[in-house]
Amino acid sequence: MAIPHLAKFPTIHADKDEENLISNELKELIRCCPKEKGWRTSFLYKFQGYWCQTEEIQAIISFQKHFRAKTSDVIIASIPKSGTTWTKALTFAILNRQKFPVSNENHPLLASNPHDLVPFLEYKLYANNQNPNLSGIPEPRIFGTHVPFGWLQESIKGSDCRVVYVCRNPFDTFISSWHYCSKIRPESHPPLPLEEAFNMYCKGVIGFGPFWEHMLGYWKESSERPNNVLFMKYEDMKEDPISHLKMLANFLGVPFSTEEEEAGLIEQIMKLCSFESLKDLEVNKSGKSIKNFDNKHLFRKGEIGDWVNYLSPSMVEQLSRIMEEKFGDSGLKFKVFSSVS
Ligand code: A3P
Repeated sequence: MAIPHLAKFPTIHADKDEENLISNELKELIRCCPKEKGWRTSFLYKFQGYWCQTEEIQAIISFQKHFRAKTSDVIIASIPKSGTTWTKALTFAILNRQKFPVSNENHPLLASNPHDLVPFLEYKLYANNQNPNLSGIPEPRIFGTHVPFGWLQESIKGSDCRVVYVCRNPFDTFISSWHYCSKIRPESHPPLPLEEAFNMYCKGVIGFGPFWEHMLGYWKESSERPNNVLFMKYEDMKEDPISHLKMLANFLGVPFSTEEEEAGLIEQIMKLCSFESLKDLEVNKSGKSIKNFDNKHLFRKGEIGDWVNYLSPSMVEQLSRIMEEKFGDSGLKFKVFSSVS
């Protein structure tokens, strides 16, 4: 089932030289920003406290300038490689279950990648310095973003719209990011050795990092405004999907009815959005969605604890120390091993 209202929006093209795509205004803006080698682009810039690529900064500025939230809007926020694709699929399926029954063989999630159904603000809608007309998007509108909480447009932060933040333990997020970047990097960009990537990660130098600032921003907001910001963890969702689907539906204001639960709707949504089902779909094996990257790279292993196959004991110690120091007594803790049999 095609989603015509989203077809017209362009995406950022990763294969072009990012430095040639940016405006003079932005060049001037980033001139004074700290700059480091990027994971899959020439550089990352520390812009307002977070590391980003130039194209992202340009899109974020457009988004901050032009976006106007509606009370019914839902924003799926995350740091990359935390379970964004999965959370987008679940949110889309839950919110649209009247319009698109989950058992329908024409369900949009069977023909479109979740990132096409729930477009990124910075990679799609506001890419290439756009001021898109979003009025044709049916409500509730669902958008995705990787920006830190503080960068969300005032009309989101100050309104009653809902923000779902998905977070994953930094060990697995690091490994997932490293794999993803090595697959999608342009040929001109040499692969980043694991050790070098790890050192960058520990210094916070990764797209939308430092990861601890990103996570703590949403964590704090979710404890202060739990009706507007839901903080979910990938590991918890994997281990107890039913409770998390119910929690998500309640948060979105569309709780499952007893009849729906008895009819097995929660299990059906879980199955439709599961790693195995999505990975196997033709659109996710051969299509392209965000930034023109192959959808297949969005589905790798989908497990908790794959980091044990990559990190040395000293790396584990170093990252554990950083997490302890940065998360401190915030209450934010992670499971890093799977207890799923
Ligand atoms: P791995 O690289 O560890 O396998 P994001 O969607 O934020 O880019 O995160 C990508 C990670 O989520 C990848 O982790 C990917 O395999 C996993 N993933 C993708 N779809 C999933 C799903 N439906 N359920 C669980 N994990 C999923």
